[in-house]
Amino acid sequence: MKRRDFLGFLAGAGVFSGFCWAGLSAVRYFLPPPPRRVLIREADWPRAQKVKVGAEYFLVRLPGGEIRAFSRRCPHLGCVVNYQPRLGIFLCPCHQSRFSLLGAKLAGPAPRGLYPLKWERTEGGIILEIPG
Ligand code: FES
Repeated sequence: MKRRDFLGFLAGAGVFSGFCWAGLSAVRYFLPPPPRRVLIREADWPRAQKVKVGAEYFLVRLPGGEIRAFSRRCPHLGCVVNYQPRLGIFLCPCHQSRFSLLGAKLAGPAPRGLYPLKWERTEGGIILEIPG
């Protein structure tokens, strides 16, 4: 291979690598980040406590011991929903959407109930999947 051909090959390989890198970066930009897994230890959620409020989630212990997990992100415009223990509901402070402890929409402009989160029980507690 002549020197000129070799340099042309190197330049072509460099351009090709640049396009590949840009293409992969564009694909990664449009894909949602992977969900995070958060461990809630049993010691952090006493049995007597019906609702556990995390920064991004609600955990609800129903009377039969069943557990539900919801995102705190309001399905209307994404405000952070609060728990109202005296009323036994979840309330969005932005436009007053209300949700039951089962996550169902009770009132307000939200188009649906709270987003359920996947969870699983482990030896140490509960692992929640928080979408990225
Ligand atoms: S953002 Fe929650 S009701 Fe509008």
